[in-house]
Amino acid sequence: MLTDNGIPGNNTMSQTLDIRPVAGALGAEIGGVDLSRDLSDNTVADIRHALLEHLVIFFRDQDITPDRHLAFARRFGETVEYPLVKGLEGHPEIMTVVKLEHEKLNFGGLWHSDTTYLDEPPMGSILVARELPPHGGDTLFANMFLAHETLSEGLRNLLKPLKGVSVSNLPKVCQTRQARMDDSARAAPETVLTATHPVVRTHPESGKKALYVNGAHTCRFEGLSEEESAPLLEYLFEHQTRPEFTCRFRWEPGSIAFWDNRATQHNPVNDYHGHKRVMHRITLAGDKPS
Ligand code: SIN
Repeated sequence: MLTDNGIPGNNTMSQTLDIRPVAGALGAEIGGVDLSRDLSDNTVADIRHALLEHLVIFFRDQDITPDRHLAFARRFGETVEYPLVKGLEGHPEIMTVVKLEHEKLNFGGLWHSDTTYLDEPPMGSILVARELPPHGGDTLFANMFLAHETLSEGLRNLLKPLKGVSVSNLPKVCQTRQARMDDSARAAPETVLTATHPVVRTHPESGKKALYVNGAHTCRFEGLSEEESAPLLEYLFEHQTRPEFTCRFRWEPGSIAFWDNRATQHNPVNDYHGHKRVMHRITLAGDKPS
């Protein structure tokens, strides 16, 4: 068997990854690894380290089947199925993120952290490009550590004891998944999932503090009404996606993105009307934010 560095039968050799940051805030492209092969433990550790440092990592020119996508994901944790829309036939853990030629809205097409309406939101997702428009369809990512540390000390103190309530049915995000609920719903349309999490969470691996509200799912602060919560939430939603906290990934055939959902948000740009875009997403189980 060939390992990721092409050396027959050697599964423990360290891999030298070529890691190139893509922006000041977050994101790095990783070269020097072939994800279609079995990865050594050292390579997996290096990739995990790069993910923790850069928060979203990108791979280019990879040729991986759905089975290899799953095998890669399982090196980093347990895979979980998306609760609202069915996965691929035969691969329920792989969700197809698709926008068809005639559709106007793209799935998840607004700034968000994935499924924060779950008690244990995912630790991360691995998205593989399957079919791309001729131009456009990039994905933006934002660094929630930076979003937190750039708040004033006064606001950080005010947020410290607060909890945010996330729901799965805010109208602006429901619209972006409506087409998939129409053709591949897993849950009944009236399903509403809800969870309450600290507004500032501590990353379970690095111990850093991340701002953990998002405009797609957070509807209010616990103990406050939506109207009372709105002004401060709106300020935080605006603040946390300031351009200097972001990076932008231009997809090419063979591109893969792997993000840390505990410390980032993402926003797929909807600028390719009339063209199809198909991605495969696998999500990894996370812990209860604290
Ligand atoms: C998502 O997982 O929210 C979609 C990301 C993308 O389509 O780029």
